[in-house]
Amino acid sequence: MKKFYVTTPIYYLNSVPHIGHAYTTLAADIINRYKKQKGEESYFLTGTDEHGANIEKSATNAGVTPQQWTDNMFAKFKEMWTDLDIKYDDIIRTTEPRHEAVVQAIFEKLLKTGDIYKGSYTGKYCMSCEAYLDESELVDGKCPIHKKEPQVISEETYFFKLSAYQDKLLKFYQDNPDFLSPKFRAAEIVNFVKGGLKDLSVSRTKVKWGVTVPSAPNHTIYVWFDALINYISAIGYGKKLGIPGYENYPHDMDNYWPADIHLIGKEIFRFHAVIWPAVLMALGLPLPKKVFAHGWWTVEGEKMSKSLGNFIDPRDITAKYGVEPLRYFIFREVPFGGDGDFSIEQFKKRFNSDLANDLGNLLSRVLNMAAKNIGTIPETFESESTLLKEAQRINAEYDKQMEELAFDKALDLAWGLIGKMNRYIDETKPWALAKTDLEKAKNILLELIFALRYVAAWIAPFMPNTSAEISKRLAAGEIQKYAPLFPRIEEVKK
Ligand code: MSP
Repeated sequence: MKKFYVTTPIYYLNSVPHIGHAYTTLAADIINRYKKQKGEESYFLTGTDEHGANIEKSATNAGVTPQQWTDNMFAKFKEMWTDLDIKYDDIIRTTEPRHEAVVQAIFEKLLKTGDIYKGSYTGKYCMSCEAYLDESELVDGKCPIHKKEPQVISEETYFFKLSAYQDKLLKFYQDNPDFLSPKFRAAEIVNFVKGGLKDLSVSRTKVKWGVTVPSAPNHTIYVWFDALINYISAIGYGKKLGIPGYENYPHDMDNYWPADIHLIGKEIFRFHAVIWPAVLMALGLPLPKKVFAHGWWTVEGEKMSKSLGNFIDPRDITAKYGVEPLRYFIFREVPFGGDGDFSIEQFKKRFNSDLANDLGNLLSRVLNMAAKNIGTIPETFESESTLLKEAQRINAEYDKQMEELAFDKALDLAWGLIGKMNRYIDETKPWALAKTDLEKAKNILLELIFALRYVAAWIAPFMPNTSAEISKRLAAGEIQKYAPLFPRIEEVKK
């Protein structure tokens, strides 16, 4: 049975993890948890991109070997994922032999088919992108992302015949309208490909810290060519190719591939939507179903950068306010796909309004009234309740939004019902009603309890522990007394 397969980019290990990295990985975690909750078999791969000149440089500057450097940084990323309650199924490092051997085999295979050939190249190279930049991509002669002038480099190199795939790619985009996602980013890729594709330099003689080309050991394989392959090396392409030593690899590629979603940030869309599909075509493999490029987070209106000192380490927030409020906030605040701005004041406001007030107080109010008037929550509750019908209707709508990765809309739906429940309490005043019509008051409270169970399920992929806690409090049986779910944050600017 093919599993649902979702991936994140593999992260460069030249700097410490920040909220931008956490964003993509959390999104994958949410999708994976959602699918599993629905009873689907889902598989979530993340990893780290450990080769290349930048890593070599960072290690040298720190006075350690590249391997020591990457081991140390890998541990930091892994720790971050644990801290954020990210449950991946596998985490791959490009320095692992299980990956390197597959990269080498692919390189040699494509040399044989003629998709890779030897030549020489002179071009402008951005060290930070680890990529040659086209004149047309430069802004004032500089890399548009790193704002640095690229260096002119000349070297003997192997090329990948990207130009041969231009028409095939355009046809694929046309035949598979969901591949380039979100839709508003598709034109950028289509126009780029229509503009003409040049063959891509895929080996380096100057970079030592990389996977060597077996048939030409003075070359290492271009870090992007190496990195993209992680998506198939991790799931058993080595076994499929029959590489010796892979006989007992724990995965069969056909159970995973094609990937259902490659989640990435918008700045690496071309690598995933142009180069990667062309490599897969050259290998005769099916293409992923979707490449989804999300936007970028700025911090209080500024690009996050080390020099500005505005790097957000998610742990600074989670240590103070908990992991789940952050997981909630970043997906409620900004539509997934677009850019967003992170403001700690906005985080605190949402914490208080959405979590402490709307959800937390609702749960406390309902349970306090129910404890007084019902005492015990029954196993089942049959009613012609408008509220519960509404919850059912929203449930279908919620699934639709989750499938489209419209996380903010899915959460809006949950909070829409929460708002309705709060208004329902204000209007029907069950605490007063209990004195004149106890049966009716009980019925209202049970409606609320059973509707809250829907909310608990909807928030589960985002806030798994909160969801479990709410479910526990709402479980059939005697109602207990509990502390508030989200005590208000008091230091909020007005
Ligand atoms: N190593 C490559 C990816 C290779 S995938 C085969 C790479 N790594 S990265 O560490 O620089 O960035 C990885 C991802 O981090 C980006 O695609 C993006 O998803 C995320 N982000 C990094 N900074 C970000 C923000 N400020 N905001 C949102 N996400 C950003 O590129």
